[in-house]
Amino acid sequence: RGSIRLGLLGCGTVGGGVLELCAANARWLEGRVGAPLEVRRVLVRDPAKERVAACDPRWITTRPEDVVDDPEIDVVVEVMGGEGAALELVERAISAGKGVVTANKLLLAKHGPRLVDLAIARGTDLAFEGAVGGGIPIIRTLREAFASDWVERLAGIVNGTCNYVLGRMREGGLGLDAAVREAQAKGYAEADPSLDTGGHDAAHKLCVLAMLAFGARVPASALHVEGIEGIEERDHRYAERFGYVIKHLAIGRDFGDAIELRVHPTLIPKTSVLANVSGVLNAILLEGRALGPCMLYGRGAGDLPTAVSVVSDILDVGRSIVAGASGLLTRGIAMEPRPLKPQEDIET
Ligand code: NAP
Ligand code: HSE
Repeated sequence: RGSIRLGLLGCGTVGGGVLELCAANARWLEGRVGAPLEVRRVLVRDPAKERVAACDPRWITTRPEDVVDDPEIDVVVEVMGGEGAALELVERAISAGKGVVTANKLLLAKHGPRLVDLAIARGTDLAFEGAVGGGIPIIRTLREAFASDWVERLAGIVNGTCNYVLGRMREGGLGLDAAVREAQAKGYAEADPSLDTGGHDAAHKLCVLAMLAFGARVPASALHVEGIEGIEERDHRYAERFGYVIKHLAIGRDFGDAIELRVHPTLIPKTSVLANVSGVLNAILLEGRALGPCMLYGRGAGDLPTAVSVVSDILDVGRSIVAGASGLLTRGIAMEPRPLKPQEDIET
């Protein structure tokens, strides 16, 4: 066959990184897929906005149908964010039999199981490594490395903005708002940063992790969620005095008959590994019944780290298309619904 033809929905922080990485590593990526990657269209809201150098102005469109309804496009890469338009376009692309790569955890937390079912029914792939942990290969690890084991517990720092903000408050003496502005300038925060500071982004990611780790189909609205908005500089000082650091954690446990999912700030002993995960770094600890502990650590947000995950997904989906084996990735996601422990039974 010829090239793997890509259509991007969005060309902001992550989309720009994806185009830069595809351009910088074009020959290497072609070798890994068995066909060159060819960008065909890039959907944006504002065509006049300046884009990364790797974005050819001829690709730009403001008409979604140029991407999702073009029969020549093989893989749609959704990096626009949000729910309404993204959901409609992802559904349309999957229904048309295209592979879909997305970094949109909000979309997956709300509609992931249904989209996975749709992709399985349509025999195509839905890949979402960029949705959790930025550049950390946590989705692959759960989908592939843990496929033969049971995950009994997971715990981690999954929101780079919260971790960055808490660190700047603790070490730089900044207030919450000033620290959030820094995280926004670095491209870490969501378009609506209250999704980060309110704990919702971490909850969305926990839903995605729980889908893979525990086979859960749980909406984020059912989780116990606390953000970092109530944390003040003096809280950091008190924590320090008693030998602790405040970290924002996402925690999941499988009790066999039920699962527990929660997101909240936590006091962690200064000597623990998670206490020393600084800046935009994320770290996720998985406890397998047979494997025991396994920890992943790395940059949890930002253009190029997230682009690494998104482009790796493009390679996987492209390789499946070249091999005539589309749908294998998605079929690796086994979902066995189990009840969520009631929020009133959760001790934080
Ligand atoms: P962003 O910088 O705000 O970029 C969003 C892009 O989508 C922009 O190019 C925007 O167009 C376009 N867009 C948004 N709504 C649109 C619409 N209705 N029609 C057409 N184009 C539209 O966002 P981002 O930080 O790249 O994040 C994108 C996705 O990746 C989100 O789901 C986010 O949660 C996820 N993510 C982000 C990071 C990160 O570190 N930033 C990491 C992991 C995952 P204009 O440029 O014309 O405004
Ligand atoms: N806003 C998110 C974060 C981006 O700060 O972790 C990465 O998913």
